[in-house]
Amino acid sequence: MNEKNRQVLARDKQEARATGAYRSRYPLQTKEDVMTDNTRKIALVTGGSRGLGAATALALGARGVSTIITYRADKEAADRTVAQIVGKGGQAAALALDTGVVSSFPAFVNELQAVLQANFGRDRIDYLINNAGHGLNKPFADVTEDEFDRLMQVHFKGVFFLTQALLPVIADGGRIVNLSSGLARFALPGFSAYASMKGAIEVLTRYLAKELGARGIAVNTVAPGAIETDFGGGAVRDNKPLNDMVRSVTALGRAGVPDDIGPMIASLLSEDNRWINGQRIEVSGGMFV
Ligand SMILES: NC(=O)c1ccc[n+]([C@@H]2O[C@H](COP(=O)([O-])OP(=O)(O)OC[C@H]3O[C@@H](n4cnc5c(N)ncnc54)[C@H](OP(=O)(O)O)[C@@H]3O)[C@@H](O)[C@H]2O)c1
Repeated sequence: MNEKNRQVLARDKQEARATGAYRSRYPLQTKEDVMTDNTRKIALVTGGSRGLGAATALALGARGVSTIITYRADKEAADRTVAQIVGKGGQAAALALDTGVVSSFPAFVNELQAVLQANFGRDRIDYLINNAGHGLNKPFADVTEDEFDRLMQVHFKGVFFLTQALLPVIADGGRIVNLSSGLARFALPGFSAYASMKGAIEVLTRYLAKELGARGIAVNTVAPGAIETDFGGGAVRDNKPLNDMVRSVTALGRAGVPDDIGPMIASLLSEDNRWINGQRIEVSGGMFV
């Protein structure tokens, strides 16, 4: 390429960056492109193998964000999600992590850093989405200490200490999204323990926003309503009376689907929404409004 063409290309790239058209005009072609491209953001999505995490990773991929997803047990589901993202021209990798086992976090961070270097030529992530989790639908009177402790380990203690362990790996100016639930605002019988953990996450979000603001890191809560995933044994999707109940209390007249949430989180992480910080955003189609 001669000097004149080089200058024209540099000007075009500058204009494309300024207008947000860079990725569509200059799609990434090879692993080398990815390794040398510092405009490409990188997200870590916990529990990204299925459900809302997978929908988020796919939506981020469609916006040109590289994603590292984690899974607890279902490696095949994680591999399928990675293949889907890569099949659509995105970049993704999967790592095993039980977000309820704090003692495993230092080794996980080392593994993450190795994958960041090897696959993306980077040593930082830009976005952390604390999404992994399981449900419990049991009357307050019957919840056991073990069930309570497991919920606490995964939904609160795990999020707290994983985020802490990842602080050196999150780029200044990055973002964190913590998943809560509509159940932390309205009360449905059977969710006292689960929803209390989500309530704790909403408080933690505001504290993280305050303490990490000095590094330019914005932290928000996304609180989905009832969504048709495998969550809670797939109850919202597969249990018709429950699905009908959700429909009847939702202003938009149906239960949510993963694509109601994933693209919303991806758009929350875009430049357009950089000034949203310390907020709880409910994404429920208007449940119990
Ligand atoms: N679906 C809803 O109605 C709803 C509503 C409000 C909030 N939420 C919240 O949204 C998040 C995602 O829910 P979902 O509906 O997508 O659930 P899902 O379809 O059951 O998927 C859960 C994901 O989290 C992973 N996971 C579960 N426990 C884990 C652990 N201890 N450590 C690491 N990974 C773990 C799973 O990995 P494996 O596949 O390997 O098990 C899977 O990738 C959760 O925090 C949930 O509380 C869901």
